[in-house]
Amino acid sequence: MRDHIQTERLTLRRPRLSDAGIMARRINDPDILLMTATLPMPYFSLTAEFWLMRATANWRRGQSYAYAITGPDDSLMGIVDLFKNAHGDWEIGYWLGKEFWGKGYMQEAARALLIESFHVLDIPYIDAGYFEDNPASGHILEKLGFVAKTETSNLYSVARGKRFTGIELRLARGTAQRWGITTQKQAPI
Ligand SMILES: CC(C)(COP(=O)(O)OP(=O)(O)OC[C@H]1O[C@@H](n2cnc3c(N)ncnc32)[C@H](O)[C@@H]1OP(=O)(O)O)[C@@H](O)C(=O)NCCC(=O)NCCS
Repeated sequence: MRDHIQTERLTLRRPRLSDAGIMARRINDPDILLMTATLPMPYFSLTAEFWLMRATANWRRGQSYAYAITGPDDSLMGIVDLFKNAHGDWEIGYWLGKEFWGKGYMQEAARALLIESFHVLDIPYIDAGYFEDNPASGHILEKLGFVAKTETSNLYSVARGKRFTGIELRLARGTAQRWGITTQKQAPI
């Protein structure tokens, strides 16, 4: 996976420890944290430092590829992340600071990461999940071609401190190929 991915309006780059302060400021919002499965609330600068160090280690081990979403000033607006989930499947996760919502940024960032992932990694599909009270995320995933695997499931959220109804989805390599991108690796689905 490349260190930098350029989209029309955004640069995805590898996050660094010095992003911790701005990451904590942007993410420390219940409207963000409650929509995620694994992030705690409140979210401190130290929590961000730990997350960023783990992201670097996981990248080296080939266990996850987290990108900082940045604009022209290079400062972190949010994160889009490809990681191996508890089932050993590759999954995409993301969040964006609230001041950047509603401009199509996440659609743009997530699409770029999906294209990169199918291009570089030998994987047949990528999974995703969202809580049912997060229709914006569901809308993004469906526009990207993700299809729900089952009706609903019970997903744990650390920030909520309980399980909540979630929707799990999957994007097949073949669907992504229909976007007209070249995906080098050909793995059986
Ligand atoms: C989800 C999130 C990343 C969206 O970022 P964003 O850059 O505003 O998203 P985009 O603008 O690319 O797309 C949002 C889409 O959802 C739509 N949308 C927004 N609110 C919606 C709602 N309540 N119901 C249905 N669709 C909605 C928008 O119209 C847009 O669709 P469009 O492109 O067809 O107009 C951002 O809100 C966020 O960080 N939320 C908290 C964390 C989170 O939910 N992470 C994902 C966990 S699964």
